[in-house]
Amino acid sequence: MQLLIPAILCLLGSCCFCSTDARKYESTLMVPTGGPWGSWGHPQFCPSGYVEGFALKVEAYQGFWLFYDDTALNGIRLICSDGTVIESSVGRWGSWTKAQFCSSGKLVSFSLRVEERRYLLDDTMANNVRFACSDGTNLEGLGNLGGHFGPWSSNCTSGAICGLQTKVQDPQGIWDDTSLNDMRVFCCK
Ligand SMILES: *[C@@H]1O[C@H](CO)[C@@H](O)[C@H](O)[C@H]1NC(C)=O
Repeated sequence: MQLLIPAILCLLGSCCFCSTDARKYESTLMVPTGGPWGSWGHPQFCPSGYVEGFALKVEAYQGFWLFYDDTALNGIRLICSDGTVIESSVGRWGSWTKAQFCSSGKLVSFSLRVEERRYLLDDTMANNVRFACSDGTNLEGLGNLGGHFGPWSSNCTSGAICGLQTKVQDPQGIWDDTSLNDMRVFCCK
């Protein structure tokens, strides 16, 4: 019987094997500077607590366009205070940087470094991310140098960041890849 009830809920389409995909949140933080391409992945949430650190998946600069197609930022992982690591959509290129943590406190806002459209040249869109900690310090990710950091998102008004959603462009074959274009985070009380 103890196994049967979850099994029936699954048949009804409302089971949850991953405790990371549903949590009540207070607000969504966005920035206006994200790239236009790709589709939003599933929102993912810390099962409990808040986000204390992050790591980025970054493709190092590949060199001169015509020979190489740069994508820069490919993924974002958030590290929850309960030790869970969450990610939404992630691109196929690059490797994970080391994790960076607030010296104390939780993450409460972010800013995205985005390279402007380059039309016939090699587009990369998101290159790096900064997060602000609730203790007032900032963390700058170990991403690439294309473009400029845009404005900060709002701050979580209570609590801190507890989830994320990323927008990633699928591989374009012989055409120009940009991979991660935009992100949103969620605040929980
Ligand atoms: C967010 O909080 C920081 C630190 O308290 C403050 O400097 C900044 O102006 C706030 N940002 C917004 C958009 O309110």
